[in-house]
Amino acid sequence: MDPLKNKQNSSFSTPVCVHNPHLDSLKDDILYHFSLGTETHDLPAMFGDVKFVCVGGSPWRMKAFIEYIAAELEMEDPKSEYPNICAGTDRYAMYKVGPVLSVSHGMGIPSIAIMLHELIKLLYHAQCKDVTIIRIGTSGGIGLEPGTVVVTKQSVDATFQPKFEQVILGKTVVRNTDLDQNLAEELLQCSKELDQFETVIGNTMCTLDFYEGQARLDGAFCSYSEKDKQDYLIKAREAGVCNIEMESSVFSAMCKLSGLRAAVVCVTLLDRLKGDQLMSSHEVLNSFQKRPQILVGCFIKKQLMAKAVTS
Ligand code: URA
Repeated sequence: MDPLKNKQNSSFSTPVCVHNPHLDSLKDDILYHFSLGTETHDLPAMFGDVKFVCVGGSPWRMKAFIEYIAAELEMEDPKSEYPNICAGTDRYAMYKVGPVLSVSHGMGIPSIAIMLHELIKLLYHAQCKDVTIIRIGTSGGIGLEPGTVVVTKQSVDATFQPKFEQVILGKTVVRNTDLDQNLAEELLQCSKELDQFETVIGNTMCTLDFYEGQARLDGAFCSYSEKDKQDYLIKAREAGVCNIEMESSVFSAMCKLSGLRAAVVCVTLLDRLKGDQLMSSHEVLNSFQKRPQILVGCFIKKQLMAKAVTS
């Protein structure tokens, strides 16, 4: 895929959208869980140049990502200091190097949804344009060699439907979980060029829980058999599901609503057809967790180089 052909490089620019008339009447929009606000911080000055946002569960991993990307883009801080922009709170951590923002989101749909409401407002208030957002994370694979990276084609729910449901004012609202297919293909192409690990494009099942929600047999409670578990995972596989995690559905839905170009890139830590417990060594798991960072790092570098050539 030619990076020069995508929308990011075309002459018109895409803003980040919010759809909330009530925001206009707020004198100060307080982004409480980031410990930032429109009256207390100059958001356009702090974040106006952001073009890439990477989000992931753990604050530690998102700090490691900014250190990695700083080195890749040759934008290292000589003192190797990458301050947490959200130091005023322990809810989420945020780091920035040049046009790249790295934010942690915690575990599960409620945690990432709160973070995304505030992140989308932050990008909107900062008047950011042409932003690409990528979730980098870990997952359980189905029938894949552990360590395989999955770029999500479609995020599906635990009944294999491509939708995200939320109860708002007592009514179920169904939202679309489409992701940017061109971006997914560009990421796959980066992986081919890197040639360091296996990467596939496939559906990602997003569940509400790590244990029973993902058909594990090792939670505190379990009311089904090994065969029930295998039957369910095989059905998921037949529906095109390559991996299981806990954030992609709301991530896809909210990014689509705000006009953000979005992708989900998760490494598989184990093959769920073969087991439930994470038994690989710390070193192996750590090296697996670096793979989405390496892939996204390559993508960002390629995009920035293409942009430098055109401008
Ligand atoms: N994350 C998940 O949600 N499930 C797994 O099996 C591994 C990581």
